Amino acid sequence: MTHLLILSLLFASAGTVQASPPNQITVDAEQVIGQINPNIYGHFIEHIGRCIYEGVWTDNPEVPSVYGGIRKDVVELVKQIKPPIIRYPGGCFSDTYHWLDGIGPRKSRPEKENLAWKAFGPEIGPVDNNHFGTDEFIQFVCLVGAEPYLNVNFGSGTPEEAAAWVAYCNAAKDNNTVIGMDEEGFDWQTAGFWAKKRTENGHPEPYGVKYWGIGNEIYGFWETGFTQPEKYAEGFKKFHLLMKKVDPTIKLIAVGAPSNYAKWNPRVLRFAGEYMDYLSIHLYVPALEYAIKMTNSEEHYYSVVAAPLVVEKELLQVGSVIKEWQESLEEKHEILIAFDEWNVHWAHKQFREWNYSLRDGLFVAGVLNLLQRLAISNRVGMANLAQLINVIGAIITSETDAYGSPLWLVFKLYRDQAGELLVKSATTSEKFECEKLGNIPEMEEVPCLDCSATLDKAKKKLNLIVINRHFSAALPTQIYIKNFLVKEGEIYELNGPSPASVNDFENKEVVKIAKKDISISGSQFVYTFPAHSVTALVFATENTIRE
Ligand code: AHR
Repeated sequence: MTHLLILSLLFASAGTVQASPPNQITVDAEQVIGQINPNIYGHFIEHIGRCIYEGVWTDNPEVPSVYGGIRKDVVELVKQIKPPIIRYPGGCFSDTYHWLDGIGPRKSRPEKENLAWKAFGPEIGPVDNNHFGTDEFIQFVCLVGAEPYLNVNFGSGTPEEAAAWVAYCNAAKDNNTVIGMDEEGFDWQTAGFWAKKRTENGHPEPYGVKYWGIGNEIYGFWETGFTQPEKYAEGFKKFHLLMKKVDPTIKLIAVGAPSNYAKWNPRVLRFAGEYMDYLSIHLYVPALEYAIKMTNSEEHYYSVVAAPLVVEKELLQVGSVIKEWQESLEEKHEILIAFDEWNVHWAHKQFREWNYSLRDGLFVAGVLNLLQRLAISNRVGMANLAQLINVIGAIITSETDAYGSPLWLVFKLYRDQAGELLVKSATTSEKFECEKLGNIPEMEEVPCLDCSATLDKAKKKLNLIVINRHFSAALPTQIYIKNFLVKEGEIYELNGPSPASVNDFENKEVVKIAKKDISISGSQFVYTFPAHSVTALVFATENTIRE
């Protein structure tokens, strides 16, 4: 059973003289903690289930599309959440993918089995006609205004194949860097050769892809190329050498592992740390391997909405492993964390498509709040929700229609409202305890309220995004704002009838963001946050912060 631990006597007993509510948020706009790296709001698309085909891409000429099949409705929805960065083509798929299959005239591209996912059946691992490949991905990210992040094939690919992909994306025609023969005797020519191929395919200008991942979850038995950390580190160095030879400006992301693979991160750092720019971490809660039968119960609700604390612990742990490694170095080398897969995930069927509820949106909001903090204090340089469309997705599509789930709404709220500068805030609130659920442990004293306070760069707008995780109670909260002269305010409330509420094609706004009126001026007031909601309080001032 879930219990609320702290109940204010003042509120519980009728007739008592009203005083401050037990819930309080204090914000000091003068105390800017730092600038939030926008890449924490990133996304991920993979060749799996209905993510690429029927999601991003359509082969149906009746569906409005651009560039031969990129769905217009999906582009419009993705644009609204202003994705800074999108990872592609996997995931597990990337360790089986040969990028040459996905370039050139679409009609002549080969049909290939989805080697990463076919074991789960044609619904999850359908045969791939390769109509969506590198050029289509780049078009897609350009249309939605994101930066591309490509993940190369470490599992069944070679350093030469990866370097040629870098060349195809980034080289100029006169780049004579020799890539050469791979171990199977295939000649990958020079970087300029691939620049000419890109030009022949209609793209004379280099794409300038900055972020490149080398392999995916190579520590796991399920992954093509599964190996030991020392072997991975050795391979990583070879990939690094050739890929950076083609383009020394790229940033390389190495495979890191969650803390239940305790030896992986220290070892890859020890043997190849100096060659990496990012160490990747993935975390899903309550996690597939526990075979959870997830319900809409209050118990499961509290475990899921408390799970950002599990994510925080994991990221802090990785941060401390990196720090420890750095302290052993003679010359400083900075490595950031790429938290490039995260979500609520508990069943294989979600790999085809999944319609997430408001509860899951509250988890996502909790993670975004902590990512804002850890981007500054704990080297989180990037994070990518897994995944963007249909497959454990933020956006859901039918053949001809699309809508945003509560996950999409959370991203929309943060991208529209959150400022670039994180500001010091302190929250005290009622607490709850949650039960163990998969990799979410039993926890006591989880705060009902979680607040992120941010300012825009001009320091004219102060934004509080407050999550009320209480299953059923609205929480009156005393808010104190220091050093910001509030002149006017706006409220955007993300909520739905119950934590289990979902949107669907018949009603795309069961869960929605509603703009509400607020008449607040001054620095102290009580605001009541509704149950299971995420609220953005946006305050404007005529003056900048008091000097
Ligand atoms: O996001 C789905 C899959 O989950 C990814 O391909 C893999 O990296 C992870 O295990």
